[in-house]
Amino acid sequence: MADLPPFAVAFIGVAAVIACFYLIWRVILLFAPGWYSAMIKNNAVSVDDFVGGPPDPVSAFKSVLLNWFNVGSRVAKKEGYPLKTAPSDKVPGLIVTSRNESAPQSWSDTTKPPVVVGTIRMGFGHHRIAYAATSWGLGGGGKLFGLVGGGKIDRETWFHDFLSIDSEEAQMIKDMDHMYSKGSRMASELGGVAEKFWGSLTKSGDENSLRVTYQFAEHMLPLINGLDKNSPIIATHCMVACAAVAAGFTNVINLVIDNHAQWFVVVPGALNLVQGPSNYHAFLKMGVPEKDLGLAGHWIPRDLVEGIPDACARRNTRRKAGKPLRIIIPVGGAGAQKSFIVNMVGALSGLVKEGVVQLFLNAGDHEHMKEAFVSALESNGMDYDTVVDMNGLQSFKDKMMTEEPAKNVTLFSYEDYFTAVATTDILCNIADVLACKPSELAFYPIPKLMIRRVGDHEAYSALRASELGDGTLEVREVASAIKYVNLFLTTNLLEVMNKSISNNNKIGLYDGCKNAMRLALERAEK
Ligand SMILES: *[C@@H]1O[C@H](CO)[C@@H](O)[C@H](O)[C@H]1NC(C)=O
Ligand SMILES: *[C@@H]1O[C@H](CO)[C@@H](O)[C@H](O)[C@H]1NC(C)=O
Ligand SMILES: *[C@@H]1O[C@H](CO)[C@@H](O)[C@H](O)[C@H]1NC(C)=O
Repeated sequence: MADLPPFAVAFIGVAAVIACFYLIWRVILLFAPGWYSAMIKNNAVSVDDFVGGPPDPVSAFKSVLLNWFNVGSRVAKKEGYPLKTAPSDKVPGLIVTSRNESAPQSWSDTTKPPVVVGTIRMGFGHHRIAYAATSWGLGGGGKLFGLVGGGKIDRETWFHDFLSIDSEEAQMIKDMDHMYSKGSRMASELGGVAEKFWGSLTKSGDENSLRVTYQFAEHMLPLINGLDKNSPIIATHCMVACAAVAAGFTNVINLVIDNHAQWFVVVPGALNLVQGPSNYHAFLKMGVPEKDLGLAGHWIPRDLVEGIPDACARRNTRRKAGKPLRIIIPVGGAGAQKSFIVNMVGALSGLVKEGVVQLFLNAGDHEHMKEAFVSALESNGMDYDTVVDMNGLQSFKDKMMTEEPAKNVTLFSYEDYFTAVATTDILCNIADVLACKPSELAFYPIPKLMIRRVGDHEAYSALRASELGDGTLEVREVASAIKYVNLFLTTNLLEVMNKSISNNNKIGLYDGCKNAMRLALERAEK
């Protein structure tokens, strides 16, 4: 060695290190299928059968590694936590579950098991869809759907949020959510290979993402095993659907989010309902069996669907009378897209001061968004009113049915999470345009200005809205957003959208949640 020139020594060193890593990688790949088999050996449901076969060694390793990040060496428990129920203090008629610390479980067998809408509070989307689904079960779901037996078969509707069951499993969900945000931040700071590897682990939406989601759900059984196994389950988070199937529930309906086919949003053993036709055939093409798939329509709350004719007529009358254009601008649960929205508010200040545009700004429960809105309003010299609770919101809405607001800008901000979510739903009845990113709101029956997306998968939701005729294409720049607002003011675009909404409604395109509830009830009677 001593005789070799330094560059040669360096070369041999590097080659040895590479050879070493390569050898370790080969050994890992040799063992990975075995680790994978050990990981899935007690699973109730085979994800591999569903996705068309077992993973190759690299996929097996990725799945094992991610599962280890998620659950470490914990052994999954099965026994369900006893639950208690209480009437919701937010939604009349709705029953909310939580953990009953004191008791062994027993459900009376004289009443029919309830319809359980299962969700996880992550962002606003999963909860918003869950409330939309419950709205079709309340007030006599059975009668609404003309089911045999009418009122007799009406069941209670329960809202079952995994995070409301105070437990180590709920804590695992929170920790995992936290870890992914931290991981993404770290990966993007490190950049390069680290960022690529993290992205390929977490963002691909491929078969492995479903393997890992399902494996995590195997650890969540105590959160759902306390329910009556005869209950129909409507899940608005795929992990809830996975846990329900793994626990042995046989009537599980999974409401698939967005409009982009990815493996981890469908669940083996559940009836997976999608919102639009391209998702339907994309999942068929991926290999999801026809019997596990259904095309339901969009996830919309009952009062918005039933209010479509009135809301359309009211918007139409406002347009004809030259009333100001009411734009509602909500911020998502993750509070992203701050700078776009703040700049947009500034860019609209001219039209607001002229009195041709009114803004309803929903900062939700994000203090930082409220501050950002306030500073944008103040620096642009825009006067505004504030609404801070449910009572204020209700009376504002009632007043807006017939009157104009005192100020041209109203800022909604809350400490309470539920009111933050509900505000956008409630204001859609009295607004002319909803300006939002292409999230679950992309399919709401109101003319929509689709603003810059946060996740790439959301692009397909904007396309869907645009082709349905009730929304614009996704606008990437504030200037294009303002251009659309001017088109709303000066062309017949809003009348065309209005007409699309009426037509879409006639053929049931907004009836997704209604159909899900009907199917859940019908299947439960079989
Ligand atoms: C908790 O369970 C016990 C025993 O089943 C029951 O008596 C009690 O009413 C439950 N608590 C609530 C609030 O439902
Ligand atoms: C609000 O709008 C009205 C017209 O509806 C307009 O006359 C007024 O100047 C606007 N007020 C402010 C403070 O921008
Ligand atoms: C808008 O919708 C309402 C209610 O469906 C309808 O009465 C009205 O004629 C529609 N306007 C246009 C221009 O389509």
